[in-house]
Amino acid sequence: MTSTVHPPVSESPSGVPEFPMERAAGCPFDPPPTATAKQKEAPLARVRLWDGSTPWLVTRYAEQRALLADPRVSADITRPGYPNGAPLPPGGGSISFILMDDPEHARLRRMVTAPFAIKRVQALRPAIQKIVDELIDTMLAGPKPVDLVDAFALPMPSLVICELLGVPYSDHDFFQDNSKTIINRDTEPERRVAAMQALNTYLDELLAKKLAAPTEDLLSGLAERVRGGELTRQEAAQMGVLLLIAGHETTANMIALGTLALLEHPDQLALLRDNDDPKLVASAVEELLRYLNIVHNGRRRVALEDIEIAGRTVRAGEGLIMANDIANRDPDAFPEPDRLDLTRDARHHIAFGFGIHQCLGQPLARLELQTVYSTLYRRIPTLQLATGIDRIPFKHDGSVYGVYELPITW
Ligand code: HEM
Repeated sequence: MTSTVHPPVSESPSGVPEFPMERAAGCPFDPPPTATAKQKEAPLARVRLWDGSTPWLVTRYAEQRALLADPRVSADITRPGYPNGAPLPPGGGSISFILMDDPEHARLRRMVTAPFAIKRVQALRPAIQKIVDELIDTMLAGPKPVDLVDAFALPMPSLVICELLGVPYSDHDFFQDNSKTIINRDTEPERRVAAMQALNTYLDELLAKKLAAPTEDLLSGLAERVRGGELTRQEAAQMGVLLLIAGHETTANMIALGTLALLEHPDQLALLRDNDDPKLVASAVEELLRYLNIVHNGRRRVALEDIEIAGRTVRAGEGLIMANDIANRDPDAFPEPDRLDLTRDARHHIAFGFGIHQCLGQPLARLELQTVYSTLYRRIPTLQLATGIDRIPFKHDGSVYGVYELPITW
């Protein structure tokens, strides 16, 4: 179990707050109060990073969307001024196209767009429902209390992404452990590099197998492109790593943290459990994505040119952190933003980002979450926490927020 203790937010003598910021004790679903206070003050504020640099924190919804859609901002982590969360590992540490600009980004993203298109993903619905039902059957047949993360939230999206990519699920301990190391904010650079290399080698070996004996999966499709000279083996392996990590960690955290948020809002949980309208379920997914905004490190970019925004000039080479957790609580975009209301129209949230890097896997994530939220609480109507919320270990140290464990009973 990882400690929930986190160092206090410190302010430098100049009054520039450090980033990332700490959430308030007892408010695990709300963004850090310092960030919310900065949003009230101004649309842009300076923050201080671990290396002493002071990029801009973009606090409000409108400015974040404008900047995320602006071709004058770059997602290239190797550019000077990029507000990196940790020292850059040797070789740049790029996790494929998520950290690249167009046209390179578009060239690579295009190669994996089709398997994540809405129609293709919808065809997975029966398979996903079967996975969800079987995991619940196993949980109900086993001892209680049980850790929902271990028994359900993590295996569910892992099984799905393994099937889609063509990765053997039996290797889940290996790839889940390495993914955890990579996305932990406090991992030392050497360990992060080692975990990246381990996953790269693993994916490269899988690609070799797919080259020799292709099957019906996404990695075989990439192997085919390698054979045709469209893609290097290294590019294909890095893409595989990105899809494998992004494909299980995010949804897993939405399942466990979403369940906890619903247990803490029993009226909302009852609404979801006692109503089988697919529209309500879809709306619940969007609202929980908005409210929890689990990818809570901010979308990071660097300005390529001087940009005039909200009466300020962001200079070329200055870092930008689009804190989408507070954008999703901006009262100008969402009335009564701190209220979890599953019936509100929250579809314009930016929990999946915005602009060219907007989440590729969102149709899949939506389908997975809709299936889980419409099944789990109906099949286990008495589902409840098996411990106090004060004993739940939250992922304050993760670049994806959630809980390490969620002991439940029924
Ligand atoms: C609830 C679940 C998920 C959330 C909240 C989420 C969130 C995000 C966010 C915020 C971004 C934008 C990053 C940026 O602008 O810097 C992103 C990008 C991405 N996501 Fe997701 N994601 C989820 C599920 C998934 C799944 C299931 C996949 C499937 C493989 C996936 C694959 C990707 C990829 C490949 C990108 C990079 C897109 C690009 O750079 O063009 N995500 N995601």
